[in-house]
Amino acid sequence: MTTKLTHSKPILVTGAAGDIGAIGRHLTKILLGAGHKVRALVRREDDRSEDLRRLGAEVVLGDLTDLASMHRAIEGTSRIYFGMSLSAAYLEATVNVAAVARYHGVEAFVNMSQMTVTQMSITETTDSPQHKLHWLAEQALTWSGLPVITIRPTVFLESFFLRLAAAGIRSSDELILPLGDSKTSPISAIDVAHAVAVILDDPAPHIGRIYNLTGYESADLNRYANIFSQALGRTIRYRDVPLSVWTDKLLELGVPSHLVGHLTAMAKLHVEGRYDRMTDDLFRLTGRKPMSVYDFVKLHAAEFTQD
Ligand SMILES: NC(=O)c1ccc[n+]([C@@H]2O[C@H](COP(=O)([O-])OP(=O)(O)OC[C@H]3O[C@@H](n4cnc5c(N)ncnc54)[C@H](OP(=O)(O)O)[C@@H]3O)[C@@H](O)[C@H]2O)c1
Repeated sequence: MTTKLTHSKPILVTGAAGDIGAIGRHLTKILLGAGHKVRALVRREDDRSEDLRRLGAEVVLGDLTDLASMHRAIEGTSRIYFGMSLSAAYLEATVNVAAVARYHGVEAFVNMSQMTVTQMSITETTDSPQHKLHWLAEQALTWSGLPVITIRPTVFLESFFLRLAAAGIRSSDELILPLGDSKTSPISAIDVAHAVAVILDDPAPHIGRIYNLTGYESADLNRYANIFSQALGRTIRYRDVPLSVWTDKLLELGVPSHLVGHLTAMAKLHVEGRYDRMTDDLFRLTGRKPMSVYDFVKLHAAEFTQD
C-alpha cells in the first residue's frame, strides 16, 4: 500500500468489533499499520473495544441507525468504510449513514455489499431478504451522489467453513453443508479487508467503481473436503444434507430468522450454480493472490480439531 501521509483525518471504520468476517477489525489493523488514523465505530464498550484502543484506534460508540451517533462518528472524517452485520435494519442504517455523510461532505464512502447483487436488477431479485436490502442500499447510494466505491465479495471462508461447518469437522470429521455438487469460490475476509484498505488509502481512482471479489478457486465440496484432509492430516468427508434439515438446525441453535432466510437462499443459489464464479479484481486491486482453502485450514487448524 502506498500510504498518502498527507491524509491527516481519521478514517471511519464501522462494524469494527465484528467477529464473523470481522472486516472492520482487520481493516482497522491494516490501516493503522499503514500509518493512517482510524476512528472505529462499535456498539458498546467491551474487550473488543479495548483491543481496538490498544491497537491505536480512536473508539466511538454508536448505532448506525441513530442520527446523533452518526454525526459524532462522521464529523472530522472524510473517508468511510461502511459495513455491518446482516440484519433487517441494513437499509435504514445505510441511508442513515449516507445522509449524515452527505451533510459532512466526505471524499470516499466504501460500501460493503455482496457479489450476488451483480446478478440482480430492477426485474431480478433473489429469495434472500439481505440480498434485496443490499440491492436497495446500492440504489440509494447511487441516488445519493456520494463518492461511493462498492465492494461485492462472494461468501467468506470464515462464515462458510468456520461458522457453519467447523463443529461437524471437529466432532465427526465431516464437512456438513446443503450444497449438493455445486461449486463455490469462498474468499478470506482478510483479503477483502486488504482490498478495502487499498481503496481507502487512495480513494480517488476508485470512485464510482464496483469490485467483485472471489477466492483462490471455484471447486465443489468434495474437493474442499480433500483439501481439509491434506491440511489437517486426517480424512474429512463432505456430507450433503437436505436444506430443511440444515435450516431447522440453525433455527434450533438460535440463528436469527433474517440470517436463516439469507443462508437458505444462498444454499439454493449455490445448487443453481450461481456461486461458481471467479474474478481477478482482488489481484488487480491489491497485487495479492486470494488465500487458498489449504492455507485457511492450516491457519485455523485448532478450530477444526477437537481438544
Ligand atoms: N459473511 C459473508 O460470507 C459475507 C460475504 C459477502 C459479503 N458480506 C458482507 O459483509 C458485511 C458483514 O461484514 P463482517 O462479516 O465483517 O461483519 P461482522 O464481523 O458480523 O461485524 C459486523 C459488526 O456490525 C456491528 N453492527 C451491527 N448492527 C449495528 C448497528 N445497528 N450499529 C452499529 N454497529 C452494528 C456488529 O456489532 P456487535 O458486535 O455489537 O453485534 C458487528 O461488530 C455485510 O455487508 C455482508 O453482507 C459477508
